[in-house]
Amino acid sequence: MKKININLGYKKYSIIIDKGILSSISSAHKLKFANSKAFIITDKNVSKLYLKTVIDSFNKKKIHCFNYTISAGEKSKSFQVLQKLSNKILKDKISRTDIIYALGGGIVGDLAGFLSSIILRGVRYVQIPTTLLSQVDSSVGGKTAINTSVGKNLIGTFCQPEFVYIDTNTLKSLSRQEYLAGYAEVIKYGVINDKAFFNWLNLNYKKIKNRNNSTINELIYRCCKNKANIVADDERESGKRMLLNLGHTFAHAIEAELNFSIKHGQAVAVGILMSLHLSVTLGCSNTQDFLRVLEHLKKMSLPTKLKDLSSKKNWAAKNLINKMQNDKKIINNKLKFILCKGIGNAFISDKVTSANIIKTINLLT
Ligand code: GLY
Repeated sequence: MKKININLGYKKYSIIIDKGILSSISSAHKLKFANSKAFIITDKNVSKLYLKTVIDSFNKKKIHCFNYTISAGEKSKSFQVLQKLSNKILKDKISRTDIIYALGGGIVGDLAGFLSSIILRGVRYVQIPTTLLSQVDSSVGGKTAINTSVGKNLIGTFCQPEFVYIDTNTLKSLSRQEYLAGYAEVIKYGVINDKAFFNWLNLNYKKIKNRNNSTINELIYRCCKNKANIVADDERESGKRMLLNLGHTFAHAIEAELNFSIKHGQAVAVGILMSLHLSVTLGCSNTQDFLRVLEHLKKMSLPTKLKDLSSKKNWAAKNLINKMQNDKKIINNKLKFILCKGIGNAFISDKVTSANIIKTINLLT
């Protein structure tokens, strides 16, 4: 078992990483929350696979639990689903001392976390991420959100969980596409601030592709440790946490252009490469590092250009730029981009022009 502690000053919590720990969550619940009730939120795919294991373990410990299953997919991160779910949970008489469990990927985690932060003006919650993307990124750090018609994740809160339980066995049931999409967020950590990690990923790419257990455990540990350090320094994203958005300004615009029909991580893969390309264009990064990331994405069977995401779509740089105008990273009317002085050295820039962006998009279409 691996454990990482996040210390935010006003609050501390742990990330527990191990295989086969889903059935022991109830023991931790009993220790920390005594007889509080458990309200488990999950989605249709995950409920078929893991809900029974979690419920059985709560029943064994005689912990009263309720469960709620939402549809899988980005469309569930909406006001409508939030309202329905809140009403059901309130009818089941949740109280402020109870605990909400988010069992699933980033969508379940974001929605359940947001609901926890507002229901009864705040109820504690626990993240049980079951996808690679949520295990290395979205379950850690307390960002919660739903989408609106204007854009992705535009309504939300910062609300830290009580625990993050990462059962790496759950990765075995992911489709190849889902697993690899999550890997785009893994590469991100190497490109942002850890060149040694990027080199390690490059060396171990076959084991990672084959989901070798010890390699995956190490990979998740290193990502969560990196994220825990960033979040401890800058919980509210006023500085270095912004670096974790590498590639995301492009990615969110791409997802919106495709009506959220692709995996977030697939868009992030192309977005990271676009950010590196932009860095080369602006003279910050060398071409060699851009090519290294390109080769690595290809080795991991991840998309590297817009046509890989949708060959039918008539991609237009101006449409993507329009979508970017709704991004949260606009400050004082200036769009902030995360650029790199090569792999492992990311920084925030507001010096990117529309002409630079158009050049990058056109080259990576
Ligand atoms: N997913 C980026 C962050 O948590 O800041």
